[in-house]
Amino acid sequence: MARHWADFQYEIYLNGMTGTVPRLPTDLSRLEELTERRLGPGPVGYVAGGAGDGSTARANRAALERRRIVPRMLRDVAERDLSVEVLGRSLPAPVALAPVGVLSIMHPEAEPAAARAAAAQGVPFVLSSASSTPMEEVAAAMGDAERWFQLYWSKDREVTRSFLGRARAAGFSVLVVTLDTPLLAWRPRDLDRAYLPFLHGVGTANYFTDPAFLAGLARPVREDPNAAVTHFVNLFADPGKTWPDLAFLREHWDGPLVLKGVLHPDDARLAVDAGMDGVVVSNHGGRQVAGAVAAADALPRVAAAVGDRLSVLFDSGVRGGADVFKALALGAEAVLLGRPYVYGLGLDGQSGVEHVIRCLLAELDLTLALSGHAGPATVGPADLEEDAG
Ligand SMILES: Cc1cc2nc3c(=O)[nH]c(=O)nc-3n(C[C@H](O)[C@H](O)[C@H](O)COP(=O)(O)O)c2cc1C
Repeated sequence: MARHWADFQYEIYLNGMTGTVPRLPTDLSRLEELTERRLGPGPVGYVAGGAGDGSTARANRAALERRRIVPRMLRDVAERDLSVEVLGRSLPAPVALAPVGVLSIMHPEAEPAAARAAAAQGVPFVLSSASSTPMEEVAAAMGDAERWFQLYWSKDREVTRSFLGRARAAGFSVLVVTLDTPLLAWRPRDLDRAYLPFLHGVGTANYFTDPAFLAGLARPVREDPNAAVTHFVNLFADPGKTWPDLAFLREHWDGPLVLKGVLHPDDARLAVDAGMDGVVVSNHGGRQVAGAVAAADALPRVAAAVGDRLSVLFDSGVRGGADVFKALALGAEAVLLGRPYVYGLGLDGQSGVEHVIRCLLAELDLTLALSGHAGPATVGPADLEEDAG
């Protein structure tokens, strides 16, 4: 039977009868400010910060805000089912947790805590290549729950080949290849504090446990950590890659393959030509190119170009259930949730992440119902209008 996500609100009100209120806000857009107050400026700056003057992150929000839902009435929404099939995987709702690196800067339990929260709520967890915990440990924390692996496409073929083999063996089902980070972007909040966790060997766990990576070191990491960090920096990403290189990944990954960071319809068409199974329309939460197109503005154009040929997913700016609804209406099959779950982790560990997931899906369930939909399948462009502002 489909899960009744909206019932979370009754649970909250019932708990209130005994004087208990939620530990974290239920309006997820308030989490950033709370995290700023509770955690040190370095980690929060890294998470909240964007490229340049932050204009892309603001544009992401504005593009979602500008689109308004036009609710429909008397459509029988008594029984609702949020489940979807995406990339051949059955999901309880059209949402997964986005890949976010170095979660140990937010909470000591880091990725395993977020992954356990995702598993407990049945939502896929997308593990970053730049996690602070090796992928096998994260997998072990999840049992057989749905997990996807995000690849930062290394300069070193052997390291990439090894990562794919390890991810497969550890039960990751979908490969998400991030294309928008061939170089670290200009990020003033990190630059002003000279804050980059990787240089301290934080966020390098998958590399420092990888046989192919270790084979490139003269001495073990523990004996010469600086050399290990330098080796990591040198091979982490590759600005020289081009579309034909995707054949290598297709050859070494037999599951669904998704390209993250696609914004132009022509790039989406190239993804189809390269035999990809999906794209994530994303500008990395505004962390890469200041002045870039808002992800929600790029989404309908990409969906129109390729939506019938591969799966179109979306992230960048999702802060609540209404945003998920809007992304579905603009052509996404599913949405990745980024910063809000990271703040939930920073504020309250695994429980904080579970709180964020439950709030988001309760609000999505209610938004669907109150707009006249019994599930994601019937949501479309006609449900939105643009606020000329
Ligand atoms: C602190 C932080 C670290 C991130 N690390 C990664 C990463 O390792 N790999 C990746 O593909 N995307 C990474 N992202 C981007 C997210 O997957 C996602 O695209 C972004 O958070 C969406 O924007 P939003 O959080 O503002 O909604 C990161 C984002 C943040 C905020």
